[in-house]
Amino acid sequence: MAISSFCRTLLFAALPVCQLVAAQTIVVEDVVIAADETTIAPAAAVVAGFAGPEAFQLTDAILANLTTLQLSNISLFAFESDNDFEKRTNEDSCKTVPGDARWPTRAIWSVLNLLTGDALIDTVPIGAVCYPNSGVYDAAKCDRIIAGWALSSTHSADPTSVMSPIFQGETCMPRNGNSSTCTLGGFPTYVVKISTVAQVQLAINLARNLNLRLVVKNTGHDFLGKSAGAYALSIWTHNLKSINYLASVKTPSYTGPAIKLGAGVQVFELYEAANKYNVTAVGGECDGVGVAGGYIAGGGHSPMSSRLGMGADHVLSIGVVLPNGRFVTADETQNTDLFWALRGGGGGTFGVVTSMTVKVHPKVSVAGASFTVVSGADVGISDDLFWAAKLAYVRNFPQYADEGAYAYSMIFPRGAPGSGYIWSMLPWMVPGMSLADFKKMLAPLLADWKALGFPVEITYFETDNFYDAWSKHFPFEGVANANLRTASRLFPRSNWATEESLMAMFNGVRSVVDEGSALIQYNMKADAPAGSTSNAVNTHWRDSVWYAIFGGSWGEGASETYMEEYNRKITEDWMTRLRVFAPGGYGNEGDVMEPEFGDAFFGASYDRLLQIKRQVDPNDVFWAPTAVGSDRFYIEGSRPWLTQQNGRLCKKAA
Ligand SMILES: Cc1cc2nc3c(=O)[nH]c(=O)nc-3n(C[C@H](O)[C@H](O)[C@H](O)COP(=O)(O)OP(=O)(O)OC[C@H]3O[C@@H](n4cnc5c(N)ncnc54)[C@H](O)[C@@H]3O)c2cc1C
Ligand SMILES: *[C@@H]1O[C@H](CO)[C@@H](O)[C@H](O)[C@H]1NC(C)=O
Ligand SMILES: *[C@@H]1O[C@H](CO)[C@@H](O)[C@H](O)[C@H]1NC(C)=O
Ligand SMILES: *[C@@H]1O[C@H](CO)[C@@H](O)[C@H](O)[C@H]1NC(C)=O
Ligand SMILES: *[C@@H]1O[C@H](CO)[C@@H](O)[C@H](O)[C@H]1NC(C)=O
Repeated sequence: MAISSFCRTLLFAALPVCQLVAAQTIVVEDVVIAADETTIAPAAAVVAGFAGPEAFQLTDAILANLTTLQLSNISLFAFESDNDFEKRTNEDSCKTVPGDARWPTRAIWSVLNLLTGDALIDTVPIGAVCYPNSGVYDAAKCDRIIAGWALSSTHSADPTSVMSPIFQGETCMPRNGNSSTCTLGGFPTYVVKISTVAQVQLAINLARNLNLRLVVKNTGHDFLGKSAGAYALSIWTHNLKSINYLASVKTPSYTGPAIKLGAGVQVFELYEAANKYNVTAVGGECDGVGVAGGYIAGGGHSPMSSRLGMGADHVLSIGVVLPNGRFVTADETQNTDLFWALRGGGGGTFGVVTSMTVKVHPKVSVAGASFTVVSGADVGISDDLFWAAKLAYVRNFPQYADEGAYAYSMIFPRGAPGSGYIWSMLPWMVPGMSLADFKKMLAPLLADWKALGFPVEITYFETDNFYDAWSKHFPFEGVANANLRTASRLFPRSNWATEESLMAMFNGVRSVVDEGSALIQYNMKADAPAGSTSNAVNTHWRDSVWYAIFGGSWGEGASETYMEEYNRKITEDWMTRLRVFAPGGYGNEGDVMEPEFGDAFFGASYDRLLQIKRQVDPNDVFWAPTAVGSDRFYIEGSRPWLTQQNGRLCKKAA
């Protein structure tokens, strides 16, 4: 938001404000100077001992220097202290929205823009270019956005777009450009495009001091609507792209190579860097997810997990801006509670992470396989045969996980019940295993399948490094389907203890799939690796050998009644049926309506996480659905069966 264009848009509406903005001056050490991007921005000092974005910090000296700002009060950007707005904040039951006395005037937003060095973005929803009356209509851009809608990069490159549009209320969907109106819906009102720590601090301080809703968006992959929020100021971390390889890092518990990642680094960028430095990093299977954003914050499962545990198990150090506006480092020796919480305790809860340093591991060879089986009467594979074959496979999950496997497969019903399934294994891989050993591991299962008469054509692969296995053998994953709901469960090893418990779990899963649920599943384990320090990873991960995502979609234009029924079925029927076998779910890919989300998404870590949340963020500057401590707020006007982000965020009566 350049000041000059800001003036142009305001000229007609509010001339006096514009003149004030244009005539803006500040007093610095008793000297009155013009306030523009070149004189006061960015409001940051270079702090010794830090590099890149973290070298530029907001300090008390900087704030003291910006003493009198004629348009507004620089104290709006001050750090938290005992005598400030904290008390005011507590009085308000709802976060500030436009029209409230405390909502910043355009002038205050322009001061934020000045202080951040022209980094403030006035939200224009990604689909607005498809709306003839939006003022930004652009048919060619609209075509490109529609063509690239299923690509995660379309959304991660946009300041506010999210990949689960259901949570922003499906406003301003590009395809509806000619038939509806583009509104802000659940999108934030303003965004700070982050390139320095100082900008994060200014945004947090302003939000805290005026009780604004704050959201953090990195890529927008979140499945639960955690990176959107109506009437919010958003902190957009996507451009923090620094990657530094550190050949040898020494901490109390570790000596070895590591990579320091800016908060915006995505999985594919981490893997490219690791490959270049001849090491293996622990990241997700999906290429676009933000590693040091929501992925590690929520735990982070990985093709390396059966060997190396969760992504969060590899973190050595974290740079983070706290709710009070201060930048700190959390590691094994300082801010240790926070260090524990930031590794598994969830994104958007304890502060804004600006970097993480993660362990990397020796290069590893990989063996694996892919196959697709279609069943159904038309191909001579009955449902019972299909499930018998599936059972023969599931039966061995503890063994495969112990041998290091990560098997990613999906089962989709082909149509109405009884019409068969499509089962795609994409892929089943074991890091650190030779192809010969991999084939040995599969042989008994293949013999079982042969005996059953279940025909499977398998394609094998072997690579001498992780990067090639990952880049060639995982599927493209489309995103941003609007009419989609998912939920997940972590099935513990104890279900395999007896034939009865195995069959009860298996038949439970089958019953849900037979009623139309997709089954997106991972046979893997996630034990904490030797030498890692304790963290907040959901304890339900630690004994699971089967991680499964359930859910489905409904047709365009489905009625409200149908959607309610379908969504309630997922949470209240399907998940209730499976919760008895799998009390935990993965919070990063879970059900936003999970009834006891504290236990399900954090397990035995929850109580301590809640204590840390109340200490670090007593006034709930940070809030996200299903985040630690989030149950003391609600979204005004939200459907009872689905928490969306397009209403005002309010505190429940005490
Ligand atoms: C197609 C697809 C594939 C996936 N594959 C995997 C996988 O292989 N393994 C796996 O474990 N998960 C996977 N996920 C889930 C993924 O881990 C979560 O969606 C995760 O939250 C994404 O984090 P992000 O930063 O990219 O996304 P965002 O939606 O931008 O952020 C997610 C959450 O983290 C918060 N956040 C982001 N950055 C910061 C920050 N710097 N500081 C504080 N909070 C922050 C946000 O506020 C939000 O609450 C996948 C998701 C999708 C859609
Ligand atoms: C305060 O501002 C003056 C004038 O721009 C500058 O010379 C001085 O270095 C600033 N001090 C700090 C602590 O930033
Ligand atoms: C502005 O600052 C003065 C002190 O300099 C303070 O008394 C006042 O409350 C502040 N007002 C706002 C709106 O920040
Ligand atoms: C809107 O209508 C115009 C004219 O018919 C058409 O060219 C365009 O593709 C339509 N846009 C969308 C988003 O459907
Ligand atoms: C890469 O790493 C592997 C395994 O640690 C090692 O054997 C090999 O020599 C390394 N290659 C180079 C070029 O450093």
